[in-house]
Amino acid sequence: MLTEGNILLRRLEDSDREPLAKLVNNKKIWDNVRDMLPFPYTHKDAETFIKLAKLEKTPMTFAIGYEERFCGVIGLTAQSDIYRKTAEIGYWLGEPFWNKGIATIAVKLITSYGLHSLGFIRIHTGVFEYNKGSMRVLEKNGYAKDGIFKKSIIKNGQIWDEHRFSITR
Ligand SMILES: CC(C)(COP(=O)(O)OP(=O)(O)OC[C@H]1O[C@@H](n2cnc3c(N)ncnc32)[C@H](O)[C@@H]1OP(=O)(O)O)[C@@H](O)C(=O)NCCC(=O)NCCS
Repeated sequence: MLTEGNILLRRLEDSDREPLAKLVNNKKIWDNVRDMLPFPYTHKDAETFIKLAKLEKTPMTFAIGYEERFCGVIGLTAQSDIYRKTAEIGYWLGEPFWNKGIATIAVKLITSYGLHSLGFIRIHTGVFEYNKGSMRVLEKNGYAKDGIFKKSIIKNGQIWDEHRFSITR
């Protein structure tokens, strides 16, 4: 369990199913993430996701708690082969919880955990060109913009640039 103030990263639990399914089933979230995230998002999708997270021997996927309420998910995904010392970070927060500084603290906690407890040397991610809030969260945590992958994304039938961010140990 990782905490700072009233923000907590903890393992997912079966009781997260309802709030998870309710909060993530939001087009404003889906517009900023990969198409592999189901939309609409069902209780069954939440159940499958929680089951997989609970199987992780080394916890990499966490519920974000704010004042003891489930408010989102954050996770690291280890890369493979020669990239195995790199993890990709991903996160979302339910809309009622936006702009309270929660993602900034959650990214801070998981970045420190990934670099210092799990032994990753690099954590990186890609942000769609219009997601200024997420870019700000990464920058506030010391992530640097590595570059822009021009026209690398298709989302909602439109082509977009992806801004690539990373932090290294
Ligand atoms: C992106 C997201 C995680 C941010 O979470 P959050 O808890 O609201 O973020 P924080 O409050 O910690 O910080 C947001 C920062 O971005 C800024 N911001 C928000 N919207 C902005 C915008 N449209 N333009 C510029 N800055 C913006 C805020 O002012 C704040 O910066 P500040 O502290 O310097 O004022 C949340 O909006 C979300 O889940 N979005 C949908 C899913 C998503 O985008 N996931 C990430 C994919 S890369």
